[in-house]
Amino acid sequence: MKGLLLAGGHGTRLRPLTFTGNKHMIPIANEPMLFYGLRHLAEGSVKEVGIILGPLHEGIEEAVGDGSAFGLRVTYIHQGDPKGLAHAVLCARAFLGDEPFVMYLGDNLLQEGTRPLIKLFHDTECDAAVGVTPVPNPSSYGIAEMDGDKLVSIAEKPTAPRSNLALIGVYVFSPRIHPIIQELIPSRRGELEITDAIWKLREEHRTVSVRHVEGWWKDTGRPEDLLEANDLVLQTSVPGGFVNLGTVAEGAVLEGPIRIGRGSFVAPNARIEGPVVIGNDVRIETEARIGPSVSIGNRCTIGRRGGVRRSIVMEETVVEGSVTLSNSIVGRRATISSGGNESIEVSCIVGDSSRLLF
Ligand code: DAU
Repeated sequence: MKGLLLAGGHGTRLRPLTFTGNKHMIPIANEPMLFYGLRHLAEGSVKEVGIILGPLHEGIEEAVGDGSAFGLRVTYIHQGDPKGLAHAVLCARAFLGDEPFVMYLGDNLLQEGTRPLIKLFHDTECDAAVGVTPVPNPSSYGIAEMDGDKLVSIAEKPTAPRSNLALIGVYVFSPRIHPIIQELIPSRRGELEITDAIWKLREEHRTVSVRHVEGWWKDTGRPEDLLEANDLVLQTSVPGGFVNLGTVAEGAVLEGPIRIGRGSFVAPNARIEGPVVIGNDVRIETEARIGPSVSIGNRCTIGRRGGVRRSIVMEETVVEGSVTLSNSIVGRRATISSGGNESIEVSCIVGDSSRLLF
């Protein structure tokens, strides 16, 4: 079984975040989002993964390399202009050969990973296995209508949805999908839709197996989704643990699951409430308040009386003065500071190298 990890697409720079770089490299619990997909593919016994790259793909090849750090062999496939999920499969045709494959959308995070869907694919000897889960806003997703176990209809972002079951961004296909994709015509959105290809499999009376996924799933299309994904990963991947590879001074108060990286320092009277991950060489100064639900990247400084709650703070950023960041995403090498002594709470989404003075 091969893997296809999609990291192309139009919106590679996340709006309104003027974050330089590809959105699939935004850290969730201090790890690039794309790494979760790679790990889930490796756990599903996939050995070879093709990564689809779009026009803006900086940072991906440097970070993932040949994939050996994940136990994978990675091939990069340039899609160019993104013309849909099925178009990405078309571009990967030579790489995929005639093996079945798992397609994983790089902006998705799925607690249960790929294993249950791959198992369903093998157990039911089907031509496609897809995962679904109920959503409150079905017009934003591919929607599956079911009659018991049977797929009755499937539609991409329907204006009048026939169910609330969204297709999650993980699919397993047999090579039968290729001749179907070859014949597809662009949808009214101008894209080659994978949902149209799945429906054509059904029209050929092929088996499409559907799994109701367990645990959480997140499509990280908007900044708020990134914060929610960060909450979910922190809650489930730093469970009950305390790992300290840095130095915590006497008098600092730490509660709940917390991971502190190498060379980091937590000063006396600082307070950290987990779940929190702190990278390497970070300084948390005295009277700073961190958490819950916070990721702080390498080489950041949270100054005296500074605070961070429910936020993602990327590498080398400094929070100075009596500022508490909450529900915020802050890019790399930014400085957030306050001139006065009064404590203020700030909620912001700011890109790399920004300077904010309150
Ligand atoms: O997240 C689940 C949803 O993902 C499904 O319910 C929909 O059926 C499916 O179409 C998809 O919808 P999105 O609107 O979320 O797709 P988006 O354009 O955001 O692309 C998903 C990922 O695939 C993203 O990581 C970018 C990548 N991509 C996308 C396109 C269109 C490519 O690599 N190439 C492409 O041509």
